[in-house]
Amino acid sequence: MASKIPEEVIEQIRSQSDIVDVVSEYMQLTKRGRNYFGLCPFHGEQTPSFSVSTDKQIFHCFGCGAGGNAFTFVMDIEGITFPEAVAKLGERAGLAVEAPTVTAKPVSATETRMKEAHEFVASFFHHILMNTEDGEHALQYLKDRGFSEEMIIDYQLGYALPNFDTLTILLERQGFDIQEMAACGLLVERDDGSYFDRFRERVMFPIRDDRGKVIAFSGRVLVTNKEEAKYLNSPESPIFHKSEVLYNVDRARPAIRKQRRAVLMEGFMDVLAATTAGVTNAVATMGTSLTDQHCHKLKRLADNITLCYDGDQAGLDAAKRAGALLQQMNLAVEVAILPDGLDPDDYIKTRGKENFAENIIEHPQAYLAFIMHHARKNKNFQHENDVLQYVREVLEELAKRHSPMERDLYIRQLAQETGISEEAIYADYRKLEQQTKTIVQPTQTVNIPTDTKVLSHYERAERLLLAHMLADADIVHHVLLQENDAAPFIRDVYNTVFIYLIRFYEEYQHADVQRFTEILPEQDLRKIVAEAALMECNEDSRTEEVNDCLASLKKARIQHSIDEKEHKLKEMIKLQETAEANKLAMEIIHLQRVLRGM
Ligand code: UTP
Ligand code: MN
Repeated sequence: MASKIPEEVIEQIRSQSDIVDVVSEYMQLTKRGRNYFGLCPFHGEQTPSFSVSTDKQIFHCFGCGAGGNAFTFVMDIEGITFPEAVAKLGERAGLAVEAPTVTAKPVSATETRMKEAHEFVASFFHHILMNTEDGEHALQYLKDRGFSEEMIIDYQLGYALPNFDTLTILLERQGFDIQEMAACGLLVERDDGSYFDRFRERVMFPIRDDRGKVIAFSGRVLVTNKEEAKYLNSPESPIFHKSEVLYNVDRARPAIRKQRRAVLMEGFMDVLAATTAGVTNAVATMGTSLTDQHCHKLKRLADNITLCYDGDQAGLDAAKRAGALLQQMNLAVEVAILPDGLDPDDYIKTRGKENFAENIIEHPQAYLAFIMHHARKNKNFQHENDVLQYVREVLEELAKRHSPMERDLYIRQLAQETGISEEAIYADYRKLEQQTKTIVQPTQTVNIPTDTKVLSHYERAERLLLAHMLADADIVHHVLLQENDAAPFIRDVYNTVFIYLIRFYEEYQHADVQRFTEILPEQDLRKIVAEAALMECNEDSRTEEVNDCLASLKKARIQHSIDEKEHKLKEMIKLQETAEANKLAMEIIHLQRVLRGM
């Protein structure tokens, strides 16, 4: 939690970084009353819903919910860590801060040299491609594939000569350590201890990190043949970790952030093609399947992901896996489906850029609809087994979800497609749901009812309760005492904030919303805190308000439980499970009695 930058230094920088000044450096703010307003930089909007409070030194967007203080604003807008943001604002205030040390591990001199070498090699490859006779056929290849000169320059594409020793000699002459150059994959060591160039006779694509520094290459053969791999990538190295790299994220970040959406692709060639088609928020993994680290990276920038994988069987399977992982991280997933086994690049080439942007990217399918589409493939509905298998695959996906509306919708659709009755599908669904519940959800989560009146009521209670907790550390102790150490909130995100807050008060003892915001690792959590911190709460009647909130939340929890049981009861009656139905009815009556007595 604590950073290596001394507290006093952070404090000093904080006091010299007025939020209005800091934010104004990135966007235009207009004063209205005591607050400032502007167009939110974190989502696209026409009317300003982004506000900055000078009194509280925090910002909040009523549109997308983004919020935090000067440090977190810089973190979010620049895509950097807390210590980096402190260093940046320190520099601005004229206070030198040591290079950030906590989250980002210190950059070693070796890594710096490796990156310098990559930068140098990228411009060398680019020079060969653009200015020499040796590069002419490679340049022609790229142009034939639809790359404009502007694009080739912008992405610094290049060409590696066929020789085995061009780079080996050049790098040595530039004073780079040959062993280091092999360790970062530019050269390869022979058994006899001599070295040769890894990349030869290939069109070269620099791969950049989040900041735009070249950390690796991918080289494509000019003529696809059986002898050589089509693409040769740099190996894993101290500066290149495939499981973390998202190709093009350095360029796509502003567009992703603005739209809160990223387009995720399988190949970097597809990303480049998409970019030429005006899709500026596309990124790709580097020939590996999607990892948790990739997802975390995406989650810092976006809420929605459009998967645009190849239209063949392998692509569909990969999209299904990637979609499942992204949804586990609470990212909303849609799938842009390409017809006839095409990949995005082929599609753009054969059907046109506008067609791709408008008909494919702008019209993705819901993930579940995609799963159904996928599950239907290679199945013959004349065969009972195929039909049952199909229903099962879709239900498995459905059982992972919470929305009853979604469930009803898809079960109805399944019934229509297969001719099986809705009741029978429901019965199967219930069984599956029981299994998934016990496996995936060890702690019981409460479904948020779709009735917006109930929702806004307890939502208000949650927010007000948190507001009091943020304003006064004693309230947290009071609540823990009242609730017997149980988490008081209904929604999981609130309870997560609550747990962070307990830990925070253990360390700092007193209320400090700004500092608390900084320790929250995710924007979702910071949003909630910003919303609550901006709420008016009455200092004089704190305990009464808090107790009212706790009572409201308790009631809401019981009401949810009743709703759930009533729903189950209906199912049991349908299934003629009399014993189970009677048990549920008794439980409902009991809970209703408790509710009335409150
Ligand atoms: P694809 O085979 O789909 O390549 O591999 P592509 O993007 O369509 O390329 P073109 O259009 O034939 O030039 C997708 C990704 O898999 C990795 C690369 O990262 C590529 O972008 N790959 C593929 C390799 O690493 N090595 C290979 O030999 C092939
Ligand atoms: Mn392709």
